[in-house]
Amino acid sequence: MRFPKGFIWGSATAAAQIEGAAHEGGKEDSIWDAYARVPNAIAGGDTPERAVDHYHRYPEDVALMQRLGLDSYRFSTSWARVVPGGRTVNPKGLDFYSRLVDELLEQGVLPWLTLYHWDLPQALQERGGWANRDTAYRFADYAEAVYGALGDRVSHWTTFNEPLCSSLIAYIGGEHAPGLNDPVAGLAAVHHQHLAHGLAVRRLRELATASSTDDSQRDIRLGITLNLTNAVPNHPADPVDLEAARRIDALWNRMFLEPLLLGAYPTDLLEDVREFGLADRILPGDLEVISQPIDFLGVNHYHDDNVSGHPLPDGAPTGLRPTDKPGRSPFPGSEHVSFPSRGLPRTAMDWEVNPAGLEELLVRLGREYDTLPPLYITENGASYDDVLSDDGHVHDVERTRYILDHVAAVGRAIERGADVRGYFVWSLLDNFEWAWGYAKRFGIVHVDYDTLVRTPKDSALAYAQLIAEAKAAA
Ligand code: NOJ
Repeated sequence: MRFPKGFIWGSATAAAQIEGAAHEGGKEDSIWDAYARVPNAIAGGDTPERAVDHYHRYPEDVALMQRLGLDSYRFSTSWARVVPGGRTVNPKGLDFYSRLVDELLEQGVLPWLTLYHWDLPQALQERGGWANRDTAYRFADYAEAVYGALGDRVSHWTTFNEPLCSSLIAYIGGEHAPGLNDPVAGLAAVHHQHLAHGLAVRRLRELATASSTDDSQRDIRLGITLNLTNAVPNHPADPVDLEAARRIDALWNRMFLEPLLLGAYPTDLLEDVREFGLADRILPGDLEVISQPIDFLGVNHYHDDNVSGHPLPDGAPTGLRPTDKPGRSPFPGSEHVSFPSRGLPRTAMDWEVNPAGLEELLVRLGREYDTLPPLYITENGASYDDVLSDDGHVHDVERTRYILDHVAAVGRAIERGADVRGYFVWSLLDNFEWAWGYAKRFGIVHVDYDTLVRTPKDSALAYAQLIAEAKAAA
């Protein structure tokens, strides 16, 4: 399979999941540090306090990236490290990212920076978090602070990672910090994150232009990462399932894609969630800010959603998402949605494995949106219950298969016309998997949580080989 020349091969992480040093170097609580203190919020009572100590071990981690032959490393900056109280910039926080970026560039790894991967400063949560419109303006200021420190060396900037999770799942599903069950706040969070994205895009472009000279144009590529799925009706001839799939597609895909790409929320969605006041949050001019052109769209994809509008029979297997807590539906206006099993193999997250779904999604996006920018798969990967064998290796056959099959699916999508320019495996390292704590391992590199020793798994070695072969063939 041939991938275009210049195709970017990478791996991804996020600050709160790997850095640790949660209260070092001037960093204060993010909402995840605070949430981890809520009894039973996180499996095993785990916290992001130490995580995998990347804050101190980043040179070793960057060396690993270089050994694996990664072109790029997708990481996030922690807002709570850079602007701990939400208002005053912490130079020590910026220094850490500056050192990290230097290390990456020295090792020939392209830094791919995400500004928001879910770790809002707790101080801003106390002022309403994303339910408060002011947070969007604070975000643009935070973006400016990070750009001021790194804009001379970082070209690829992502505003948000999976805003669906930091709005619906966090404010309505109650699974993610701040752990609320408030649909009005959740839909406000959606709109304010969109607005924050647009304000930051505008600010970063202005800053890049201001720092350019006649002789040298500052290179800046701006985008956002969405988690997109195919909402597949369980029985395509059943109107109840079709309607449920339409609702999920509106809430999970189109509510995020369309304001960005078309400058409007889908009308069916506005109708579905009318009672929760989304429309009231949209002020004149917001959608113009939100829909400014972007240079790329990041796509995170793990599984499809097989959707039904019928309740599942007792005992039927389900659990595509860990967020489907009984009585805490993250689907405002659509309480009767269920996700029946299609009998496909599943990962340790209980997510169905279906590479053809990724191929379909990528091709479909290009067909459905004329204004679609180039795509990057900014996350794809799988959790399995890995074991470090006596031979010192992790023989993660299923993850290796998963990655190779999904990369092949991306290749087929490209052959069918999808404009995909890169692929990032989630994740480089085993890490703090949010509400699951350290119980779910997604890394291609194993981390011993006692000693913090890193061991590349078989999947890392296979991925390194794949990259080398793809480059040789390009
Ligand atoms: C998406 C999120 O961006 C990432 O933080 C998370 O660990 C993976 N999915 C796996 O659940």
